[in-house]
Amino acid sequence: MKNTILITGGSGFIGSNFILQWIASEKMPVVNLDKLTYAGNPRNLDRISSDSRYCFVQGDICDRDLVHDILERHQPRAVVHFAAESHVDRSILGPEAFIKTNVNGTFNLLQHALEYWRELDDEAKSRFRFLHVSTDEVFGSLKPQEPPFSETTPYSPNNPYSASKAASDHLVRSYHHTYALPTLITNCSNNYGPYQFPEKLIPLTISNASKGKSLPVYGDGQQRRDWLFVEDHCAAIATVMGAGRPGETYNIGGWNEKSNMEIVEAICDLVDEMRLDREGSRRNLITFVKDRPGHDRRYSLGSDKIRERLGWEAQVRFADGLDRTVRWYRDNEDWWGPIRSGEYREYYEKQYGRALS
Ligand code: NAD
Ligand code: TYD
Repeated sequence: MKNTILITGGSGFIGSNFILQWIASEKMPVVNLDKLTYAGNPRNLDRISSDSRYCFVQGDICDRDLVHDILERHQPRAVVHFAAESHVDRSILGPEAFIKTNVNGTFNLLQHALEYWRELDDEAKSRFRFLHVSTDEVFGSLKPQEPPFSETTPYSPNNPYSASKAASDHLVRSYHHTYALPTLITNCSNNYGPYQFPEKLIPLTISNASKGKSLPVYGDGQQRRDWLFVEDHCAAIATVMGAGRPGETYNIGGWNEKSNMEIVEAICDLVDEMRLDREGSRRNLITFVKDRPGHDRRYSLGSDKIRERLGWEAQVRFADGLDRTVRWYRDNEDWWGPIRSGEYREYYEKQYGRALS
């Protein structure tokens, strides 16, 4: 076994932030297996694409021969599994891809990881880790006065995305319980930061506000989420990989619960401050639109376990993280501008019932 780690979905939002952080701090080689769906963008990794420690393989986590070959060839000491279909609204429009990648793909990875792990010597076996990156959405929706989710909250997923992630979490758990594969599961709250695909609330609002387009808010905008800056999430994953106990799950949150309206208004004010090319406040662009079917009202995530047992805590204050994020989108329109064409426009029209332009 080598010191290499195998990342799946490393060309997406969180995976690419993780690889950039990992290469900068850990110096160990990384193999990135990514299918490059609409959400995967090799440009996210331009900075390290010619680094000798980085190896990219374009392919599907459902491909049995490919996953087998990669494990045999690269002999990784860990798999960090980000690859997924990740957008709730797309899962409502078309759930099938979510079952294929999130459930069948995770199963395929687990099965090949198990076969690979069984052939390792005892020392390598005890060092190997399979870390599955999951979400707080598996716990369902909280009422206003309920305490935050903890690691023992029963699963109660409400949409095809969260149901497919819950199914994959259960498979991972079973591979530890039944076969002793050294697995770890992290359940994280909503991430934001550079390289997030502009279909999600924060980058969609920043990019639309920058272009003077309407800002769609579902229902009454009083749904609540816990928000975490992506670099904090990546640091937490590295911490769990290094010190987490196999078989355990760890919640990763920011203790930072906000309503969607608070988020959208804060972005409007930041864009107003940073771009002086418009008369009047961007808040005037806010448009209430039809609610998401089965919309979860509130997520709130308790992260006491990871703080107490592994010493991890979020470092980036929300105001600073949001400021950095808006600035990044302001300075990187050449990244998100081209994305908002082609397939994205078709999706936008289907989702919002109106053209983007
Ligand atoms: P993303 O949609 O930005 O990226 C997903 C990546 O996976 C893309 O690069 C895509 O090309 C790749 N991919 C998709 N299907 C694949 C397949 N079959 N084979 C190989 N690669 C494939 O997602 P993200 O926001 O970076 O999320 C990464 C992980 O973190 C997901 O597992 C998600 O459930 C989890 N998560 C996300 C958030 C969030 O707020 N974004 C919060 C908690 C957990
Ligand atoms: P999103 O970023 O899609 O993440 P998730 O559904 O995984 O939490 O959405 C965050 C919240 O913002 C969610 O309550 C839905 C809401 N939302 C809107 O109000 N308008 C939008 O256009 C989008 C994309 C999301």
